[in-house]
Formats: sequence, C-alpha cells, structure tokens
Amino acid sequence: MNSGLQSPFASSAVEKPGAGVSTASGTNEVHSVRQDFPGLLTATGQPWHYLDTAATAQKPQAVIDATVRAMGADYATVHRGVYARSAEMTLAFEAARRKVAQFIGGQENEVVFTRGATEAINLLAHSWGGTHLKAGDRILLSQLEHHANIVPWQMLRERIGIEIDVCPLTHDGRIDLDAATRMLTPAHKLVAFAHISNVLGSVVDARRAATLAHQVGAKLLLDGCQAVPRLPVDVAALGCDFYVFSAHKLYGPTGIGALWARAEILEGMPPWHGGGAMIDRVTFARTTYAPPPARFEAGTPAIVEAIGLAAAIDYIEAIGIEAIGAHELALTAKAREELRRLNSVTLFGPEDSAGIVSFALDGVHPHDLGTILDEEGVAIRAGHHCAQPLMDHLGVPATARASFGIYSDESDIAALLRGIERTKRIFA
Ligand SMILES: Cc1ncc(COP(=O)(O)O)c(C=O)c1O
Repeated sequence: MNSGLQSPFASSAVEKPGAGVSTASGTNEVHSVRQDFPGLLTATGQPWHYLDTAATAQKPQAVIDATVRAMGADYATVHRGVYARSAEMTLAFEAARRKVAQFIGGQENEVVFTRGATEAINLLAHSWGGTHLKAGDRILLSQLEHHANIVPWQMLRERIGIEIDVCPLTHDGRIDLDAATRMLTPAHKLVAFAHISNVLGSVVDARRAATLAHQVGAKLLLDGCQAVPRLPVDVAALGCDFYVFSAHKLYGPTGIGALWARAEILEGMPPWHGGGAMIDRVTFARTTYAPPPARFEAGTPAIVEAIGLAAAIDYIEAIGIEAIGAHELALTAKAREELRRLNSVTLFGPEDSAGIVSFALDGVHPHDLGTILDEEGVAIRAGHHCAQPLMDHLGVPATARASFGIYSDESDIAALLRGIERTKRIFA
C-alpha cells in the first residue's frame, strides 16, 4: 500500500470506476472512494476519522441514491400488485436476492431476507433447531462469538434441552480447530462459528471447520457479518450449510440481512413467523405454506432496503472485494505496528487480523479513551462489543476497537495515534 497518508483507493493503486473524472478545468482529477461517503465529514465539514466500521459501515452515495429512488419515484409494494410499478419493483426486489446469492456463491432460492444477522440466527435456531434438534443433542460454539450467535442457542436450550459446548481459542485469538477436533462427537448436530471475529479480527479456517463438522454429521453455520465486507465468500467452496450476514456492515442499509442455507435444508424447515406472503392456501381449518424462501418471509418485506443492499453489492464489486480486503489488512498491520510502538498499549488478536484492531491503553478505561478520541474527531468503539464471554476470556471488562472500511486510510491511523498521545498526557 502507499507509504503516505492517502488511501490507495484515493490513488492509482486501485482503480475505481469513475476515477480520473475530467473536471471543468480540464485536469484529470483522481476520484477518492472517501468522496463517495457523505457520512465521513463532521457537521462543520471537517474529515471525520470513522474507525467503527465493524459496528456499522458508512454508506456510499450510490446506496443512498438507490434507496431514495426506491422510496420515491420507484416505490410500490412487491409480489402483489397487478400494476406495472409493482411488477417492476418485484423484479428489482428479486434481482436483489439474485445479487446476494451470486455475491456469496449460492442460489437465489437459498437466500432468505431477514432483518439482519441476529434475526437470521434466531430464525435458524427456532425453525431448524426446533425441528431437527432434540434434548441431549450438542452444539459447538466458540469463545469469541457475538451474543447474536450465543443467546438464540441458549433460548433453544431452555426450550428443548440441547447442550452447548464452547471451543477455546488459540493464544493469539483464533478459534482453536485442533481443540474442536477433540471436542466434536456424533452427539454434535451443529457447529456455529464467526467467520471473522468482530473483536479480534481473527479469521476461522472455514473449510476445515466444515470438514470437522461434517465428519461427525454436524452442520456448520458461519456468522459472516464481519467477513462479507472484507473477504470473498463462496458458500459452496467453503462447504458450510448456513451463512448469515447483515447489510449495514456491507455498506448497505439497516433493517435487512440474509440467511443462506442449502436448498434441501431450507425445504425441511418449518416457517417461524406466520402471516401474508408466506402461505400457499389459508382456510380456517388449515394453512399450507409457500416454498422457501417465501415461507420464511412473512409480511411486506424490506423492499427499499433490499434495493439498497443490491446497490451496495454493485458498489463493492466495482472496486473488488479482494482489493478491499487487502487494503484493510495493510491498514490493520500498520495500526498494530504504530500502536505497539507506543509501549503503553496491549494488542488483542492475531497479527494478521482482518480490518479490526482491539486494544487496551495502560491505565485508561476504553470509554475514557473513546470520549477523548471523539473530541479529536476520531470514532472508535469502546465496550464489550456484544462479546462478553470473550471479554471474560481476555480478562478485561471492555476493549477499545478500531475497525477499518473501504474508505479508511492512514490519516485515520495518524488521528488515532494523536488522540491516544493526548489521552496519555491527560492521564499522566
Ligand atoms: C460477528 C457479528 N455477528 C452478529 C452481529 C449482529 O449483527 P446485527 O446486529 O446486524 O444483527 C454482529 C454485529 O455487530 C457481528 O459483528
């Protein structure tokens, strides 16, 4: 990557479509990805150093424009209207589903739109877990899971009496697949791991996890919230059975996400929400259900959000997910190196963590650090990151977390370091 403070996305290292736009003065101005994100400025028009992309990503203008169009000039319901506008909206909505499927290597009938990853895992636990698991069956989670991949399974445990095992981590914060090998037994019916940890940035070897799960007859769920924005994902090549993610971490809108499951598994899952759109025929005596994915999408869906998600995927694909991943990896390595130089920072997670750096500053609570950084125009996350069991494992109540996105650059790291130096002076 560049040695200067410019993003490679702002220079020639990665060509963005529309880059090199001719200006009125006739010069060939290089277009920066950062310029596509109106949210990256403060209220007074200063650059905002947004280092909380793992929580939610800022939106490019293309996504904002697509959602405004969908909510304005193009707006109509889907699947029901007999008028042209509704038919067109239905085509656009289903095209969004196709785009999601193609983005993660699945088939369109295997993509269920949900409100996000949390709802997708709840759907899975309720419908698949409630039908295919019984008392005494075991599932394997890991120590680093987000609460969204813990609590729905605990609720299922309360409902039907399954057992939950927890796979430990390696010393550098990866899910320890050697330990998983030793722990898995034929009683295990599901392995559910974060593809990338939202706290440590560690990437699980998903193919190996799939092999291990399948060797004992278990299914593999990957929580792809942090992976889809920074890794090429191909569910078929990974060999997983379920994959979930949220659009808002992928530069798309809030309120939509997806559950991908292999078609034959979805076929065998009962609906979990009842209402319009998910039925085949309703009488007071009996109701029959639509085939998947409609069976799992009761009610009017998130139409505008689906269009926004499709626009986000277009935006990402125009730049290239590999390039985005490499860009974030380089920034992460740089941030770790600079933080380590301060000699007063504990770094969590592996050296090759993907886009996410969790750390602690000696003698300063992460919340205090976050507050002072905010005064400096730097936004980090401070807290338990919805991963309290991981905090327990790390022996801290909270960490500070800087996470990068497509628009991050070395000026963000420089601002973070300036803010940390100021915090140290204040607390000295
Ligand atoms: C790894 C991981 N899983 C699940 C979630 C939950 O996502 P959402 O709140 O969008 O449903 C998050 C969000 O922080 C996450 O990072």
